[in-house]
Amino acid sequence: MAESTTSKTEDGIPSVMTAAQQNSYGEARDVITLRSDVLVPRQLSCNQVLVRVHAASINPIDWKLLNGNMSHVNRYSFPHIPGNDVAGVVVNVGSSVKRLKIGDKVYGNLSGDGGTYAEFVRGNESKFALKPNNLTMIEAAAVPLACETSYQVLFNKASPPIGPGSKVFVCGGATATGWYAIQMAKAVGAHVATTSSQRNFGLLEKLGYKIVQESDETKDDPQQLFVIDYNSKDFGQVLQDKNYDLVYDCVGGEQQWVAAQRILKRGGQFVTIAGDDPEASVSLKSALTMGTHIMSRKLGSVFCSSHHSYIFHLLHTSHQELDDIRTKYLETGKVKPLIDTVFDWQKDGVEAIYKLYEKSKSGKAQGKLILKITDEQ
Ligand SMILES: NC(=O)c1ccc[n+]([C@@H]2O[C@H](COP(=O)([O-])OP(=O)(O)OC[C@H]3O[C@@H](n4cnc5c(N)ncnc54)[C@H](OP(=O)(O)O)[C@@H]3O)[C@@H](O)[C@H]2O)c1
Repeated sequence: MAESTTSKTEDGIPSVMTAAQQNSYGEARDVITLRSDVLVPRQLSCNQVLVRVHAASINPIDWKLLNGNMSHVNRYSFPHIPGNDVAGVVVNVGSSVKRLKIGDKVYGNLSGDGGTYAEFVRGNESKFALKPNNLTMIEAAAVPLACETSYQVLFNKASPPIGPGSKVFVCGGATATGWYAIQMAKAVGAHVATTSSQRNFGLLEKLGYKIVQESDETKDDPQQLFVIDYNSKDFGQVLQDKNYDLVYDCVGGEQQWVAAQRILKRGGQFVTIAGDDPEASVSLKSALTMGTHIMSRKLGSVFCSSHHSYIFHLLHTSHQELDDIRTKYLETGKVKPLIDTVFDWQKDGVEAIYKLYEKSKSGKAQGKLILKITDEQ
């Protein structure tokens, strides 16, 4: 990788940096380059902060947005710096910023604005919160989008919020959103069951759970997790009439909703973050189709006897929630991030970024995928 020019200005922040640049919509290898002459976004408006990035992570939305199929809702001007999840250190603050100060270690999510696959990122202070003090930068970068999405589903969308004795089924316990949800739901005393391929049982064991496959009556033991191998069994059949309060779908596809209706209690909720089309393209056509499905399921849930609600949830980043996640779940050790691979662009250059996208898209990661930007100090 080319060395970035390190000519520093008076405040010690360089004028140029190394950053990934997306030059048009397409596949990562075709549209992303790594440059060492990108201007540091030094000009801050009153509510912005400038963060020196230590680590960033990838989420499926990053590669779903890369090819432009979402450009009707999220249009970039090129060159665009990709990446949204981040952990780093505040190096400058706008005139109205009171909550954060220079030197604070932070984590956050840029909510689609991008910019974190770079040595410095600028963003509204509301996108950042103090980093959990028990996590490394790499671990902290693995948290924001996936964990906050699940936090919102369990404690904002679920009505009443998930708590002691709630019954929660997570479709896709091996997804990052799934294993964050499992840990938070268990932390508040809920009974939790999930689906996963056999391949990923070990991943769930890494969270400290004993995997049980015979019965879902594990509610008295928070260390046990009832897991259904979705390749050999249908969770709707296995848990028929078990009266779950919430089915949280982190996988997508119509079959999750079909199976969920068999296990939900009357008035129970189905919340999906992936909809019917979990594949790579999120086009205007698929968005419209999904909208039609949501409407017909909402109407169906009102008029059919079961009254199951169907909810599609989209994350809205909030620093208050990132603070709550930090204090209640991460710093208490009740929730931990799992890391699959740390890609290092100082060692592998732009290939690190291509591999990051390719592994995320493969669906084979066992834990979060991280892009290390600089060594921890
Ligand atoms: N709406 C929102 O705001 C929002 C926010 C975050 C994520 N999302 C969406 O939620 C989905 C999950 O995101 P993520 O980051 O958590 O995913 P991820 O960590 O990339 O999930 C990958 C895992 O999915 C598992 N999987 C694939 N098909 C499965 C199935 N049929 N049943 C159970 N598990 C299956 C795979 O495990 P196996 O090898 O075991 O199958 C794989 O390990 C994505 O579609 C993402 O775009 C939406």
